Amino acid sequence: MKLIPISPALTETKQFYITHLYYFDINEFMNASHFVNLSSFSISLVNRRMKILIKNIGVLVQTEEASGEGSGKGSGEGSRQKVCGARMSVLPCLKDAWIALDSGLIADYGPMDSFPGISDWSNLKVIDATGKCVFPSWCDSHTHLVYAGSRENEYSDRLKGLSYQEIAIRGGGILNSAALLRKTPEKELYDSAMLRIKEVLLQGTGAIEIKSGYGLDLESELKMLRVIKKIKDTSPLTVKSTFLGAHAVPSEFKGNTAGYLNYLIAEMLPAIASEGLADYCDVFCEKNYFSKEETLKVLEAGLKHGLRPKVHAEQLSHSGGIEAGVCCNAISVDHLEFASDSDIEFLRNSSTMPTILPGAQLFLQLPSAPVRKMIAAGLPLAIASDFNPGSCPSGNMNLMLGLGCMLYKMTPEEVIHAGTLNSAYAMDLSSSHGSIAIGKKANLFITREIPGYSFLPYSFGSNLVETVILNGEIQ
Ligand code: NIG
Ligand code: FE
Repeated sequence: MKLIPISPALTETKQFYITHLYYFDINEFMNASHFVNLSSFSISLVNRRMKILIKNIGVLVQTEEASGEGSGKGSGEGSRQKVCGARMSVLPCLKDAWIALDSGLIADYGPMDSFPGISDWSNLKVIDATGKCVFPSWCDSHTHLVYAGSRENEYSDRLKGLSYQEIAIRGGGILNSAALLRKTPEKELYDSAMLRIKEVLLQGTGAIEIKSGYGLDLESELKMLRVIKKIKDTSPLTVKSTFLGAHAVPSEFKGNTAGYLNYLIAEMLPAIASEGLADYCDVFCEKNYFSKEETLKVLEAGLKHGLRPKVHAEQLSHSGGIEAGVCCNAISVDHLEFASDSDIEFLRNSSTMPTILPGAQLFLQLPSAPVRKMIAAGLPLAIASDFNPGSCPSGNMNLMLGLGCMLYKMTPEEVIHAGTLNSAYAMDLSSSHGSIAIGKKANLFITREIPGYSFLPYSFGSNLVETVILNGEIQ
């Protein structure tokens, strides 16, 4: 199908406020033009579309800039894919701005003093955002949002002095969640996960990665991944799915990690890949879980099935997860509390996105990842929530950004890059999500009246998100 833009000349009898953005199929057009004249054809096309105009925006945050050609605004393709090092401290924004959304995409945007006006009001909703900020939706590139039950009893045990590892050795932790999940029907899992989806959606998340890893056998991992697929099909969020069979060794393979991995590689991976249920393959590379060598083995097997790696790396100790991830061209390595100087060097020579999970770090009282060193070394950095019952029972990205500032001394500009464009990159979504650009998905949120974008990570305990728009529709 060849799509060509309708030029302003073609729509001269009816001026739309963003004439250069309407596309049509040339074949469809040639057929249709037998019985409609040019202008009424373009009107009927336009009338079927839902449009939103947000005007008088206090600050339009994370805008792509002039690309040299055409309208002078950035477009999704060819725009920044990630933001690295010192560049993370500069956040491109437009003050006193407008943005137009059409057919689920960002159609145009600019400063109010160059606003072209509205001549076609059909299907157009106008929102006045005086004193408010408009952000591209958060991209949460690491969650375990599908789970059964909860683990607040273990939380109490930790508060009394037991460590995460000690609880796991007693059969708690991931194995506790696995035992519960295996007993839980698919429908119940879906319903409870959708409650969490609705919660994070209203907190501004527009794209999310969700992992399996509480099934730990073929049947239960498939159950989790089918729930993730159903969320993808039924929620307005953009969803990426990760197979995390190597999250822990299940009790039936206790003391036989090699046996479990043979089963995972020979039976689980092919079945999951043949149903097209996963985009990525992840491993918890950690003492008492999976070694660097075992991690490499799983990631290489996943790659053979077309699943790009992600790694839970250096969370509780230095275990070689970053090196394994970089070796296999992982899209991201996540956690990083125990990352070393040589890990920073590995990452510098890679396309892997280092990702921190400040909620899990705080909840487990872990040391901070060497974030300032990473940024000084020119690395990009993403922030995600790790929403899960054991190490971070929250998917609130506003809170995660606030924690990014408090725990890592990141600036508001840096955490906003980390929770938008860089975390979109960690899900291979930066051409379509994570910033304001023509043609990107119309996923954004409008805040309450606030003095500026820094107020958001500063007010770490408040939900300042007032209006959520996903796929060009108000939620
Ligand atoms: O990312 N570290 C491994 N996995 C999760 C925790 C899972 C759990 O405790 O249930 C994490 O922190
Ligand atoms: Fe995790």
